[in-house]
Amino acid sequence: MPLPISPRDLIGPMSPLGIPAPYPILACFKGLGFVTHMWFMHLWYAGLILAVVAYAFGGEHHRRWGARLAKQMPVIIAVGVNFGILALLFLQVAYYRAFYPATILMAWPWFSVFFGLTLAYYGVYLYELGIRHGTLTTLRRIIGWAAAAVFLVEGFLFANALSLMTNIGGWPSLWLNTSVAAAPLGTGLNTADPTLWPRWLMMFGLAVLTTSAYIVADTAFFAHDETDDYRRWAGGFALKVATAGVLCFAAFGSWYVFGTWSREVRAVMFGSPHVFLTALTAVSVGLPWLLILLGRRRLTGALAWAVVAAQVGVLTINALSRQIVQNLELAPFINLADEPVRMQWGATIMFLVLLVLGFVVLGWIIAKVVAVNRQAAHLGPEA
Ligand code: HEM
Repeated sequence: MPLPISPRDLIGPMSPLGIPAPYPILACFKGLGFVTHMWFMHLWYAGLILAVVAYAFGGEHHRRWGARLAKQMPVIIAVGVNFGILALLFLQVAYYRAFYPATILMAWPWFSVFFGLTLAYYGVYLYELGIRHGTLTTLRRIIGWAAAAVFLVEGFLFANALSLMTNIGGWPSLWLNTSVAAAPLGTGLNTADPTLWPRWLMMFGLAVLTTSAYIVADTAFFAHDETDDYRRWAGGFALKVATAGVLCFAAFGSWYVFGTWSREVRAVMFGSPHVFLTALTAVSVGLPWLLILLGRRRLTGALAWAVVAAQVGVLTINALSRQIVQNLELAPFINLADEPVRMQWGATIMFLVLLVLGFVVLGWIIAKVVAVNRQAAHLGPEA
């Protein structure tokens, strides 16, 4: 029996205020926010579980690496969440007609993100302080594992929200199955959508690859207080992690693209000219892997810059493909170009100035940390 409601009835109405800048500008900032969010988010999404496993079951060097990443995690989470907010801001401005109805259908799981994030954030503090002060009790170990598990679930909830946002065709049945007297209970999830599971796991594969790039960067830029033996070991370890990341991305990415993309999305993404971007998205992960393979015996600053730049390239290409697929999946219901533009110069200029200022401050903080580390290394353990 046909559903008493069409997906179009659940899409948010167009705002009379229009959008504050042309769509391409909003999409660029959303993409910038997402790429920077991904770089840091990947370190808590995949890096933290790897660090906890390495510290619990690994040898001396694994434990040192696990301890290093755990100690850096509170800052990584703080910076990564802020970049996520940048992406969220533009997602809400440009995609409000789909984003809000979708997150209303899954309101409670979506709302739980804040509680989970807060608990996991404090859990990470308790875990890393236990390592830092040599007071890692069983309880703190359990808290460390729990924080890593919460972040995996949070990643799943984000994959749910972003895939449900474009799965407008699936809204009526989800609404009907999770509502009382037509009032949505907000208990929905997008688990009926075949794209969800491979998308979530593909992102995890990408996160493992980002973690390997971070191992190289951390060893080259920050690990001046570690032994030469550790630095030699770190190159080999980074290669193993990178290989696992590439294989995971390739396996789940293939499932996602060949097993779950709709005919319309496939026709565009495998048609010219998009097929070049699709192919690049698939093979780009090979570059950071290759750089780590070639340079693993001596992790220099130059190699680290090359690996970081390559991985940022991979994340950017993935964000671009993802953005095109997002718009293609929305296209049968929402044409983003229909939104009237009411340019808000004041807000736009203020935002740009503050954004640049933010990046300058972040760059200064990282430069200071590198300098202090190098100085500490020169002064030796008695410093
Ligand atoms: C308050 C903190 C956070 C904010 C504001 C935030 C923001 C965002 C935004 C706006 C997107 C979508 C970007 C786009 O579509 O272009 C996104 C995607 C994502 N975020 Fe976050 N995020 C936060 C915390 C987290 C946490 C704790 C995780 C846990 C691992 C996480 C994992 C992800 C994942 C996996 C995606 C991609 C989902 C997909 O498209 O499949 N984020 N985040």
